[in-house]
Amino acid sequence: MKIYITEVAPRDGLQNINQIINTEKKIEFVNKLSETGVDEIEVSSFVSPKVIPQLSDAEEVFKSIKRNNNVIYSALVPNEKGLERALNVSVDKISVFTSASETFNLKNTNSTIEDSLSKFKNIIKISKESKKLTRAYISTAFWCPYEGKINPYKVKEIAIKLLEFGVDEISIGDTVGKASPDEVSELLEIILNDIHHDKIVLHFHTTYGMAMANVYVAYKNFSIYKFDSSAGGLGGCPFVPGAKGNIATEDLVYMLKRLNANVNVDIKKILMAFNVLEIEPQSYISKVINLI
Ligand code: HMG
Ligand code: MG
Repeated sequence: MKIYITEVAPRDGLQNINQIINTEKKIEFVNKLSETGVDEIEVSSFVSPKVIPQLSDAEEVFKSIKRNNNVIYSALVPNEKGLERALNVSVDKISVFTSASETFNLKNTNSTIEDSLSKFKNIIKISKESKKLTRAYISTAFWCPYEGKINPYKVKEIAIKLLEFGVDEISIGDTVGKASPDEVSELLEIILNDIHHDKIVLHFHTTYGMAMANVYVAYKNFSIYKFDSSAGGLGGCPFVPGAKGNIATEDLVYMLKRLNANVNVDIKKILMAFNVLEIEPQSYISKVINLI
């Protein structure tokens, strides 16, 4: 099975840095990422500009990027207002987001899990009528900074509801970056009993350094082949203080290549794209690039 990589640095990466990156740089970053071999790029978020000021230029970025026909350009959408904004600039894939933790969801979206699900039912319906691909994130799927360990059956229950709404895939987020390989195995054993592995994407943050091990067990033992990752290892959510970035795309691709996985992403091109931001990359591979 070909590995499917969603590059989330332009969204998850940039949402979490204080330094404002100008719109031209974001466009150049996405354009360079478009030539690296990644399957999808999460370009921005159509959320409240008061909550995430860094991504308030989502429309301008979408209007100006040069699209590669082999790449899907997606964005986060929290509500119908966000959907309208996204449809206006022809986003290919609409990604809604909820959480397996009530407290986190309230802080992140000012909404209970149930209210977010009822909003998403309509957003997914309209998106599908508009011939868009769809994704739903379930954040804090393993640990929550406010509620502690999350019950995997709760994640499964939410995932099943979202799939019943017709969403194409579920991205399971370790927002805190604390999941261990055993916890990933436990969750996958539970959900894959009822949900096909094609529908599952994994989104790991690296706070405790276990993201690579988590990908390894998911790929090797559960045939998961869709992963989110971030060039330079940037990332994090403003409502999870202390969480580190996403698994770095260059580290993920390097490991998958060493496992002889079918992955066609060019590591050097990822690092060259990241250079546009003029930020120090947070990855292993960026430190040894001359050796590979
Ligand atoms: P709210 O305050 O309840 O919204 O926020 P509201 O409907 O009451 O509206 C309040 C104001 O926001 C109004 O403006 C609206 O027009 C405006 P005002 O009248 O005060 O001038 N507004 C918007 N403006 C532009 N676009 C919109 C929009 N919606 C409302 N779409 C809301 C609710 C959900 C909007 C807010 O809480 C929000 O934007 N939250 C997003 C938070 C966020 O982006 N978090 C990070 C992404 S999630 C993540 O990182 C996890 C992930 O990576 C996976 C993982 O790691 O696990 C995906
Ligand atoms: Mg994230």
